[in-house]
Amino acid sequence: MSRATAAAAEPLANLAYPDALVTESAPGAVVTVVGVDAAGAPPHPALAPALAGAGLVVGAARHLAAVSVPPGVDTVLLGPLAPAVRRLSVAVAAGVPAVVLASGDPGLFGIVRRLRAAGLPLRVVPAVSSVAAAFARAGLPWDGAAVVTAHGRDPRPALNACRALPLVAVLTAPGVGAAELGAGLIGWSRRLVVAEHLGTDAERVRAVTPEQAAAGTWSDPHVLLSIADTAPAGFVPTDVTPDRVATGGMRADNQPAAAPAGGWALPEDRYAHRDSMITKSEVRALVVARLRPRLGRLVWDVGAGSGSVGIECALLGAAVLAVERDPASAATIRDNAATHAVDVRIVVGRAPEALAGLPEPDAVFVGGGGVDVLTAVVARRPERVVLTLAALDRVAPAVGLLRAAGYTVEGSQLSAARLADLPGGSIRLAATNPVVVLTGERP
Ligand SMILES: C[S@@+](CC[C@H](N)C(=O)[O-])C[C@H]1O[C@@H](n2cnc3c(N)ncnc32)[C@H](O)[C@@H]1O
Repeated sequence: MSRATAAAAEPLANLAYPDALVTESAPGAVVTVVGVDAAGAPPHPALAPALAGAGLVVGAARHLAAVSVPPGVDTVLLGPLAPAVRRLSVAVAAGVPAVVLASGDPGLFGIVRRLRAAGLPLRVVPAVSSVAAAFARAGLPWDGAAVVTAHGRDPRPALNACRALPLVAVLTAPGVGAAELGAGLIGWSRRLVVAEHLGTDAERVRAVTPEQAAAGTWSDPHVLLSIADTAPAGFVPTDVTPDRVATGGMRADNQPAAAPAGGWALPEDRYAHRDSMITKSEVRALVVARLRPRLGRLVWDVGAGSGSVGIECALLGAAVLAVERDPASAATIRDNAATHAVDVRIVVGRAPEALAGLPEPDAVFVGGGGVDVLTAVVARRPERVVLTLAALDRVAPAVGLLRAAGYTVEGSQLSAARLADLPGGSIRLAATNPVVVLTGERP
C-alpha cells in the first residue's frame, strides 16, 4: 500500500479510466485543474494561459481571489460540487475550455476524483499538497506516513488510523478538525501538529498535545499531523510550543497498513505470559479473523492477559485498547506490544467499570469476565463481539444475551492436538484444552 492509505478511501470502481486520457494534443475542450500551492510558491506557469483561454473558472472563494480571472469569464463558486460539475460538463460539451482551481495536489483527496467520475477530460497541474507542506513545516520526513481524510465522511476511521499508526496526516473539515480529533486521541501517546492556512500570510503551525488540541480553537483549512511520541529524535518548529515533537517510528517496510511480514496467530512463545494465560495460537487464529481488524477500526481486548489477541489486531492495522485488571499483566502487555512494535493503549482496571468512557469500539474480544462484562460490552453496540469460553455452563447464557441484544451468533468448539516428540524419534498428539469460540455479529 502506498503512503496514501485506504483507511478512508472510496471504491476503486469510481476510478475506472475514461476512454481517452487527456494529453497536450487531445482534441476538444478540456478542464484544466490547477493546484494552489500549500508551500507558498507562485501559481504554476500553466495557469495564466489556461485562464486566458477559459470560458469558465471554478474554485473556492479563497482560490478565485488569489488569481486574475479575465473579465467576462463565467465563474462558479465552490461550495457544493454537484452544480459545478454540471456546469463543467455543459462547458465541455459546448467546446468551452474550463479551469478548476483546487488546493495543493488536486489528485490527493481532491476534486480530481469527482471530475473523473463525471467523465470529464482533464489536464491536472498539481502543486505542493497541504500534507507535504505540513510535514515540511514540521521538519519531518513523511515517506511511510498514512494520509487519511475526515472530510465529508465518518471521521472515526481517520481517528483510529491515528490511534494505530505512528505517523498520520489527516485532512480535516469544519467541525471535524484538530479539536475533535485531539479529543479522540486523549489517552494515546501522541504529539500533534496543527498546520493552518498553509502557504498563505495567515499560516500558523503549532505542536500540541491531544489535550491542547481538544481545548484549542483552530481555523479552517488546517491539516493535523499525528505523531507517536516514542521516538527519541525531536524537533521544535519555529513559533510552536517548545515541547519536543518526536519524529514518529515507522515500520521498516514503509507499508503502514500491510499485513505483518511475520504473520499472526503466532506461537505462544512469541509472547511473555504467565501460567499459560494466553489464547492458544489455533484459537487466536479464529478469534482474530472473526474480529476483522484492519486500519480504521478500534478493537477492545477485554481481559487482555498477555495481550496477544489485541497485539495481533494491531499488527493487522487496527487501533487497540487492552483492558486488564492485573497491573503485572498490564506490564506484560506493554512489553509484548513493544516486542511486536505495535501501539496498544492499555487501561488498567476491572471490567465492566473500566469500560465506561472508553471510545466506541468496532469489535470487542472478551477473553475474561462474566455476564456483567458481556452485558456492558453489548450495551456499546460494537459490530462484532467475540468470546472464548472454557466453562460450558457459560455458553448458553452468553448466546442468549447476544441474541437478546440483536446479534446473530455463531460458535464452535475448538480442540487442537499438537504434534509432540516422543523418545526414539516418533511423535504423538498432545491435546490442548477445548474452548468454545462465540461470535456475535450485529446485522
Ligand atoms: C478536500 S481536501 C484537499 C487536499 C488537497 N488536495 C491538498 O493536496 O492539499 C481539503 C483539506 O485539505 C487541507 N488543506 C487544503 N489546503 C490547505 C492549506 N492551505 N492549509 C492547511 N490545510 C489545507 C485541509 O485539511 C482541507 O480541509
